Amino acid sequence: MVLPLAILLLSSCKEKKDNLLDVDKELSYCETQIHKSIADISGKNMMPRNIMDSLNHWKLVPIEISEWTVGFWPGTLWYNYENTKNTDDLETATHYTDLLKPLTTLSAYDHDLGFQIFCSYGNGYRLTGREDYKQIILNAADTLATLFNPKVGTILSWPREVDNGRFAPFNTIMDNMINLEMLYWAAKNGGNKKLYDIATKHAETTMNHHFREDGGCYHVALYNPETGDFIKGVTHQGYADRSLWARGQAWAIYGYTFVYRETQDKRFLRFAEKVTDLYLSRLPKGEYIPFWDFDDPAIPNAPRDASAAAVVASALLELSQLEDNTDKAKEYKEAATNMLIELSSDKYQSRETKPSLLLHSTGHWPNGSEIDASINYADYYYIEALTRYKKMLNGKSVIGY
Ligand code: GLY
Repeated sequence: MVLPLAILLLSSCKEKKDNLLDVDKELSYCETQIHKSIADISGKNMMPRNIMDSLNHWKLVPIEISEWTVGFWPGTLWYNYENTKNTDDLETATHYTDLLKPLTTLSAYDHDLGFQIFCSYGNGYRLTGREDYKQIILNAADTLATLFNPKVGTILSWPREVDNGRFAPFNTIMDNMINLEMLYWAAKNGGNKKLYDIATKHAETTMNHHFREDGGCYHVALYNPETGDFIKGVTHQGYADRSLWARGQAWAIYGYTFVYRETQDKRFLRFAEKVTDLYLSRLPKGEYIPFWDFDDPAIPNAPRDASAAAVVASALLELSQLEDNTDKAKEYKEAATNMLIELSSDKYQSRETKPSLLLHSTGHWPNGSEIDASINYADYYYIEALTRYKKMLNGKSVIGY
C-alpha cells in the first residue's frame, strides 16, 4: 500500500515530544494493569465499570443492554492482545467478548449498541477474522438502524427518554456519532448498503443542527419527529445547555474524523477541524487534559476528564494522517502526543494505587456520579491511542479500524 505523504512526513521527522513518550513502556504498563484488573474481577462474569478516587477495586456491572459501557473492557483486552500477541490474553479477550452474546439478539434498546458491540466484537473481528463475530456485528448494525428516523435524518438515541417525556419528542445525542462507525463498517463488509446512507445522513443532520456557531456542540438535540424540524439543543451531562461539555466535544472530534475517512467528503474534514480547533483553543494553557466542562465556573477547581483527553488523542492521531494540510497534520499529531504524555504521567496513571489504567475522569457531573474516577472508557481510548501511536512510529497507517 502507498502511504499518503502526511504519514511519511510524520513518521520520518519525529517531533521532539516523541522522546518523551516511551510508547513501549506505556503499553507494557497497560499490560501490567490489565492483568491486575483480571485478577481483581475474575470469576464474576461482570464488567469493570469504575473505581472511585477513594477506592481500590473495580465496581462491576451486570451484562445488560441498558449498561452502555459493557463493550469497553472486552475492547481494552483486545488492544492488549494486539500488543502482546499472547494466547492467554487472546483467551481472556474472547471470554469477556463472548459474555456479551445474550445482548446481540435483542431488539434496539438505544444507540449505545454501537459502543457495546463495535468496541468488543469489532476489535475481536479485526484481530481474529472470526465469522461468528462478523455476523454479530452485521446484525447489530441492522438493529441500530431501526432507530433511524428518515424525516429527522438521525438515529433516535434514547427511546426511553421520549417515553418518559424528559427528552421528547425525539432526541439525538452527540455520543451517538461514535455508533455510526459500526454502520459504515457493516455497509462495507457484506451488510446493507443503506447503512452507509443512514450514517452519512445522521452526520449531516447533526452537523447542521447540533452545533453552535463556534463549533461547540450541544449534548442533546431535540427534533420534531413528524416534520424533522430541529427544536433546540440542551444538555444532559454538561454544565449547562450552551456550555462546552468536554466529552461531548470529544465524541464530535472522533466522530467527524471517521465520517471523513469513510465518505472522503471534504465538508466533514473541514468540520472535524472546526470542532477540534475549538477544543484545542479552550484547553488550559500548556495543558492537555480538559476540565470536565470548559465552562464550569468552578475552574480551576473543577474536576478534569481524562476520558475526553483519551478520546481526542486517539482521534487526532487518525485525523493527522487523514489531513490534506501538512501544518494541521503536524499540529494534531503534536497535540495528541502531548495528551498522551500528560495521560502517561504519575498524575493520571493509576500505577500502584488501583488496577485501572487512568485516574481522574468525570462520568456524569450533574448526577454527581463518577466524578474524579477511573472509568472503563478512559482506559479503552487510552490503550487505543497508544496502539495507534506505536503504529505511527513504525510508519504505519492508523486510518481505519
Ligand atoms: N453518555 C456517554 C458518555 O458519558 O459520554
